[in-house]
Amino acid sequence: MKLAILCGSVRMGRKSIHVANHLVNTFEANPAFDSVELLDLADYNLPMMQERRGQHPNLPAAAEKLGMTLESADALVVVTPEYNGSYPGVLKNALDYYLDEYRKKPVGIVSVSSGSMGGNLAHKELSVMFMRIGAFVSPSRLYVSEVGKMFEEDGKAVGERYLKASAKFADEFAWFTGAIIGASR
Ligand SMILES: Cc1cc2nc3c(=O)[nH]c(=O)nc-3n(C[C@H](O)[C@H](O)[C@H](O)COP(=O)(O)O)c2cc1C
Repeated sequence: MKLAILCGSVRMGRKSIHVANHLVNTFEANPAFDSVELLDLADYNLPMMQERRGQHPNLPAAAEKLGMTLESADALVVVTPEYNGSYPGVLKNALDYYLDEYRKKPVGIVSVSSGSMGGNLAHKELSVMFMRIGAFVSPSRLYVSEVGKMFEEDGKAVGERYLKASAKFADEFAWFTGAIIGASR
């Protein structure tokens, strides 16, 4: 199975990228997945979405590139920070380029915050969005609270609470993905 991990933060000094990178390593060690690819929105510099992939007469090359990877992935994990009680506009802009790319696809949501609530509001809103468009949202969730304490400056994961929760999430999401993919074959 192919897994894509999308990092929805492009902020200067962002911490969510540490979570995304750590999850790439964690899932690479999971035998359920043959390949794990990081999709970092900071690498794409997507223009404001004017029309979806498949409808756009002249889709920006970056949107096509991201779309091809999303389409070929069997499962998707989205790492989102919480901004102003929701997920970031930059992530929504990117996600709105696509629709068929998510249908019947297992999606795991990981929310990140500097505070104690783990980005639960962003998590809920992103879950609703994916459910609304026909993805299969994993009941296993990962809330990363106090992200500044969970990682060292160089991105090394050190927080015991995070390490335990992320390992559990990876195992459960691998199981969920296998169950969905197995059922649809
Ligand atoms: C514009 C903005 C809005 C934010 N709003 C929230 C918020 O509503 N709730 C929250 O828990 N943290 C909020 N934060 C703090 C984030 O939790 C913090 O930036 C955290 O590190 C998230 O990941 P990031 O480092 O990738 O941005 C906000 C940060 C920014 C930059």
